[in-house]
Amino acid sequence: SKVLILHGPNLNLLGTRQPEIYGHETLDDINNRLYEKAAINGWDIACRQSNHEGELIDAIQTARTDGTDLIVINPAAYTHTSVAILDALNAYEGQVIEVHLSNIHKREAFRHHSYVSRRADGVIAGLGSRGYLLALDTLS
Ligand code: DQA
Repeated sequence: SKVLILHGPNLNLLGTRQPEIYGHETLDDINNRLYEKAAINGWDIACRQSNHEGELIDAIQTARTDGTDLIVINPAAYTHTSVAILDALNAYEGQVIEVHLSNIHKREAFRHHSYVSRRADGVIAGLGSRGYLLALDTLS
């Protein structure tokens, strides 16, 4: 299986960004664990992060035609604002799992709504980085 992991804005700061909410692991720590799990299972996995909405959309559009079976996406703040990312995901025909490190429903009201959830096949929130690893279990 071919998997795209997409991390949205500010997730490059993990480890130092509000660790009480997002944990002490860096994005590299998280991605390395995903690469390890993929290697064990023989999955072809790519992890990408961008602070730019258009770059996330370009990556989703590429996934439409390059054989990607699963997109695991943490759209970060774009979760709550981006119709454009929702539209891009609606144009993609594979599986989509939405992941949030924190439980967005426990937090400020403006984080309770997700545009991406209208498209996601599954949503995992509040389990920290374990959420990404659990999302991969949809492949096995
Ligand atoms: C987040 C939650 C979002 O509300 C926030 O803007 C983020 C990270 C999470 O993983 O918990 O940047 O998606």
